[in-house]
Amino acid sequence: MKKVRMGIIGAGLRSGIAEYWHKPEGSSEVVAVADISEERLLKFQEKIESPVFMTQDYKELLNRKDVDAVAVLSPDYLHEEHVIAALEAGKHVYSEKPLAITVEGCDRIIDTWQRSGKHLMVGFNMRYMSMYQTMKELVDSGAIGELKAIWVRHFVGLGGYFYYHDWHGKSENTTSLLLQKGSHDLDVIHWIAGKYTTKVAAFGGLDYFGGEMPNDLTCPKCDLKNTCPEYNPKTFTECAFREEIDVEDNNMLIMELEGGIKASYLQCHFTPDYSRNYTFIGTEGRIENDDVNGKVYLKTRKTNTWKEFSDVTYEMKKETGSHGGADPKITQDFVDLVLYDKQPLTTPFAGRMSVAVGCAATESIRAGGKVVMISQESSIVHN
Ligand SMILES: NC(=O)c1ccc[n+]([C@@H]2O[C@H](COP(=O)([O-])OP(=O)(O)OC[C@H]3O[C@@H](n4cnc5c(N)ncnc54)[C@H](O)[C@@H]3O)[C@@H](O)[C@H]2O)c1
Repeated sequence: MKKVRMGIIGAGLRSGIAEYWHKPEGSSEVVAVADISEERLLKFQEKIESPVFMTQDYKELLNRKDVDAVAVLSPDYLHEEHVIAALEAGKHVYSEKPLAITVEGCDRIIDTWQRSGKHLMVGFNMRYMSMYQTMKELVDSGAIGELKAIWVRHFVGLGGYFYYHDWHGKSENTTSLLLQKGSHDLDVIHWIAGKYTTKVAAFGGLDYFGGEMPNDLTCPKCDLKNTCPEYNPKTFTECAFREEIDVEDNNMLIMELEGGIKASYLQCHFTPDYSRNYTFIGTEGRIENDDVNGKVYLKTRKTNTWKEFSDVTYEMKKETGSHGGADPKITQDFVDLVLYDKQPLTTPFAGRMSVAVGCAATESIRAGGKVVMISQESSIVHN
């Protein structure tokens, strides 16, 4: 195979990533798209600017011989169905995060993948951001000694805009938003530490969004739209204060990782700003990022010996492409995986483990904060 012919399932917001695969003169090309919404299909076609096969039934896309690989960009609760169907149809698969909305769903995907002989990659694009690669290099190099503690704060200041006006707001569609933005952060914690979480306890609540507004109320029809801070006239129209919303908007997790490393993850969806703040503390120093200003700070402890290292500030280079330049890189890595068997930075098992932590933390929150153990064992038993 010289060129990967891609089919896209889900032509929503995330389908912007398809432009990086659509290089008719290069190593990949988008040839088909499936979405239940005709409007989204037409918009997608317009963006791609060349004729692609369009269908409202994703199975028709999977039946096509001219599709080598499929990108699953559908809502979270459909990933399991779409990824398994694509693998069973003999396609290589790129799946957006979270891999599925349950651990059992992830295990069924991994089981199907292992039997399929096809490639499967999870869309953890934060691993392709130079800021987190810099932090990983520093931890791996021993610059902060032995890693002992990780603190992550995530201000999801656009949380209302993205999550509470549509399908994300219902637990049956996502489990919780710890599997949304949270699945990236939980994965980066695992990736940089080189260890997985073994137990988690969490508190959280729905403290701002949700409420008593009718489920069918949309922003344009609302009497309060002129003063509502969550009013959104464009893509997301359902009311962010509607009754059916049942996913937390304010979460605090404490975790223990293999080797006794302690980690915390704080996520809030109603902050005024959008930012991720990571701190890794080791026996000899700590690193911290400032994603707003593109910096990583390394601070080292005094040693009281002849050997003293300076503190260092790393300035991130400006990168082109969405998600801080990560999307062009992750899409190319998927193509290289399919064409040349080059191993990408993400693994399906890592996808499973971040879902496992998100689900266990959600269970803990909804049971009042109990400690939940996390197993690396698959839930699938073959006789
Ligand atoms: N890695 C990242 O940076 C990143 C960023 C954004 C979204 N995502 C992930 O991408 C996925 C999609 O998110 P989004 O924001 O584009 O959501 P979205 O709601 O904008 O788009 C989902 C699309 O799937 C379509 N769809 C629904 N049911 C379908 C079906 N049965 N068959 C085919 N299409 C169907 C919808 O009509 C919609 O167009 C999510 O899982 C999300 O977690 C990842």
